[in-house]
Amino acid sequence: MRLFKTLAGLRCYLETARWRSLPVGLASPEEKGKLRQSPKAVIGFVPTMGALHPGHCSLIRRARQENELVVVSIFVNPLQFAPGEDLHSYPQTLEADQEVCRQLGVDVLFTPDAAALGINGEPLTQVMPPAPVLQVLCANSRPHHFPGVTTIVFKFLNLIQPDRLYLGQKDAQQLAILQRMVQDLNLPVEIVPCPTVREVSGLAYSSRNQYLTPEQRLEAVHLSQALQQAEQLFRRGERWANPLVTTVREHLLQHPALALEYVELVHPVTLTPLEEIVETGLLAIAAKLGQTRLIDNVILRSRSPIIAIDGPAGAGKSTVTRLVAEKLGLIYLDTGAMYRAVTWLVLQSGISLADEPAIAELVSQSSIELISTHAAPVVKINGVDVTQAIRSPLVTSQVSAIAAQKAVRQQLVQYQRHLGANGGLWRRVGISLPMFSRKQS
Ligand code: PAF
Repeated sequence: MRLFKTLAGLRCYLETARWRSLPVGLASPEEKGKLRQSPKAVIGFVPTMGALHPGHCSLIRRARQENELVVVSIFVNPLQFAPGEDLHSYPQTLEADQEVCRQLGVDVLFTPDAAALGINGEPLTQVMPPAPVLQVLCANSRPHHFPGVTTIVFKFLNLIQPDRLYLGQKDAQQLAILQRMVQDLNLPVEIVPCPTVREVSGLAYSSRNQYLTPEQRLEAVHLSQALQQAEQLFRRGERWANPLVTTVREHLLQHPALALEYVELVHPVTLTPLEEIVETGLLAIAAKLGQTRLIDNVILRSRSPIIAIDGPAGAGKSTVTRLVAEKLGLIYLDTGAMYRAVTWLVLQSGISLADEPAIAELVSQSSIELISTHAAPVVKINGVDVTQAIRSPLVTSQVSAIAAQKAVRQQLVQYQRHLGANGGLWRRVGISLPMFSRKQS
């Protein structure tokens, strides 16, 4: 593992390490020239403020599994703390953190100080999230927090240029705001949300748990218990915000050591307050225990999850997906049919299969529909029913070449995620969704 404290060191290392067939960070100028012709290594990035706990470890492990290079940052970002908050007492355990990163196979640990990042108390250019996401949940009591987070993460993304950014769902508002930043500013990074990791008691891991006394830890557990009660009510069919929120409040009233700051139900992507859960809701909570501010949340979904297995054509992913979906009673999303539909369109258009930019443009201007029926789904592209045509030998022979194109994959994966966020709707009424709509429902 390499440890860098300066931008110069990090940049210089990544300049060569991001190209495969390394000598990592040690290439001569001639070799560097050659390396630039070779494919880029896939970089996964995990930003942290240190005091690493099992929640961070799960992000790092996932990044390790999915990327060739893993970069972790540890930086207690002053921009996201208001005066009087715990910036100066924030837990710092750098030596132990280094060991954790080493053990988890991290390639680069970046631990700059504020000066190295040009943060010196002078006014800075900031990345400002849109107003509505700053009028809910934690932003009401911490108005400086999220602009500080978006600014620092934007800086890190520019420096490291990772392919994937790993973030925990425990910080659900942070996740939604960063997803919005990536979308609004067209940043070329995929955000990978990772589930909250909890202690056996149910308490969500947080660096701030270190502030709690043993007695306070016992009290803190009631945050997740209150959310669990609301979740049970939801599972019994309750969809209205009021009873769900009231359940949490009533549970916490019995535990006065926890001073509730808010409990709110919002849409997990747009953060718009919800009166009723149609598809998905984020029930989130913040409370103070002594001086320690704790947050937690639960995602309430009124549909079953969707499993979509991505991979090369002919690998058997459709068969496996269908079987798993049948067995678990889940929705079967035929991603192979989507690649086939796009291949059919490209062949029809007469564009050369080698002209990737033209194909990217064609795909991004098209709409695909998968219409759920009792038999196999009907597939339409730009309104044309291609359910039969996509099974032709010509499409079969070309689909792998099209599916291997990065721009095609990115757009289809984005669409599949969009279906994932709206899949209950798709299943229930058999409607179709336009392929590349950026509108979140
Ligand atoms: O979640 C955190 O630890 C921080 O907000 C982050 C994303 C590292 C930015 O400072």
